[in-house]
Amino acid sequence: MQIIHISAECFPIAKVGGLADVVGALPKYQEASGVSSSVVMPFYDNKFTQSNNKKLKTITKGIVSLGNQNFDYVILKLNKNVLGFDVHLIKIDGLTDKENVYGYPNDVERFVAFQKVACDYILLVKNKPNVVHCHDHHTGFIPFFMGHGFKYSLLKNIPSVLTIHNAQYQGDFEYDKMHYLANFNIENAGLIDWYGRINPLATAIKCAWKITTVSPNYLNELQEIANGLEGLLRNEKEKSLGILNGVDTGVWNPKTDFMLVSNFDLRSVNKGRKGNKEALCKKFGLDESLPLVAFIGRFVYEKGSDLLADAVYNVLEVQKQKVNILVLGSGNPETEKELNDLKEKIPTNFNTYIGYSEELSHVIYGGADFLLMPSRVEPCGLNQMYAMRYGMIPIVSNVGGLSDTVIDIDNGEDGYGIVINDINVHEISFAIQRAVDVYANATFFKAKRKQLMKIENSWNKSAKEYLKMYESIIKLSKK
Ligand code: ADP
Ligand code: GLC
Repeated sequence: MQIIHISAECFPIAKVGGLADVVGALPKYQEASGVSSSVVMPFYDNKFTQSNNKKLKTITKGIVSLGNQNFDYVILKLNKNVLGFDVHLIKIDGLTDKENVYGYPNDVERFVAFQKVACDYILLVKNKPNVVHCHDHHTGFIPFFMGHGFKYSLLKNIPSVLTIHNAQYQGDFEYDKMHYLANFNIENAGLIDWYGRINPLATAIKCAWKITTVSPNYLNELQEIANGLEGLLRNEKEKSLGILNGVDTGVWNPKTDFMLVSNFDLRSVNKGRKGNKEALCKKFGLDESLPLVAFIGRFVYEKGSDLLADAVYNVLEVQKQKVNILVLGSGNPETEKELNDLKEKIPTNFNTYIGYSEELSHVIYGGADFLLMPSRVEPCGLNQMYAMRYGMIPIVSNVGGLSDTVIDIDNGEDGYGIVINDINVHEISFAIQRAVDVYANATFFKAKRKQLMKIENSWNKSAKEYLKMYESIIKLSKK
């Protein structure tokens, strides 16, 4: 079986969030299980491509047009021996070759052109894939182009899958850019429309042969709340399936993780975590004897990060809880400012690193005692799974994949996390108080750490579920 994943992100080539982790891990696990799997993504001019420049081999060159504008492109290949699966990078001059993945005024043009070239690439390859697996809205037109684009009629019978990592982002735009899309019979224009706008996520939900969400619970939630797409998702329920993400245990292994200050396994967890915690406390001026609660993530409404500054203030200044809090993240400028200002007000038990640091995130997973994830929306969430694998207790809201992966510590012996039912400052502060109480009982706390580390959340299980799903649609394509 041969699968092509198409995505805007892939770790370690370009990462903004968990999408990169998934697309950097699943193909590796698929390859290991005998499924030939590769990734097609945009070429960005970033650290990874600069330092791997010599390993990128040109496969083909061409021209892609958006209306009357033509752009030269080249498709570069990174061989399997680098990441464990082949990657094809589409470099479109003046469009994809920027440093960042998203955030440019011409993102619509960038990703529409990318998707057209991705389809050109599939047309070109001799061994056609059995399934084209698209991820999020940046690849949402691909199932439509394959099914209805004049140029791509040869791809009509290749099954396509859309995985929804986050339905909050849909990439919708006005009709004045419709002529950028690959030519199609205008009778099918309804497929690209959602309430008067062109919406690539809605397009893929309508056109892909199968839809998956990154946790079973998120699929249920989307039937009720999906940023305007709930009705459509209810309509397409029959072809939808929730498959939980996994952990790439090659990258996320506390015994071999080269980013940790102190490596550990189940037997040496207490000593190892102490080493990482000491390093963190030293770096951020925190008190090692107190429990350390950390947040890692993008500062967006969905993550509940707007509540962090008030919660920290309430916990440390009003309630005077005996705890340290460390925040790693970036995003909303107001949140960044509030947290920076708070550093001045609370110089001892609180600190923040505004920015993105893969290294620091690993040391936090390996050293901080509790991970705070007060998400309002969390399709799966990988942070809590990484935390658990490293013996860090998750404090999470009761939504999406967090509900699928975390059992409250008061829920009998099987419990190991702290679940927050309503997301507000009061409940977050209460959850932190519960964490402080858990920490105070050292024997119980250490036993829970070990329990967490034994939980099996690797990609092995989910990769099998994807395989079963692919088999079901390949069967359909042969009917
Ligand atoms: P999302 O994809 O919604 O951001 P996930 O929980 O699926 O959420 O994945 C987030 C990923 O990004 C994790 O690997 C997490 O460690 C990482 N991450 C998020 N923010 C930062 C940051 N500021 N620095 C380092 N890593 C980060
Ligand atoms: C999205 C979601 C996150 C999920 C990730 C990977 O970014 O917000 O919950 O874990 O994709 O699927």
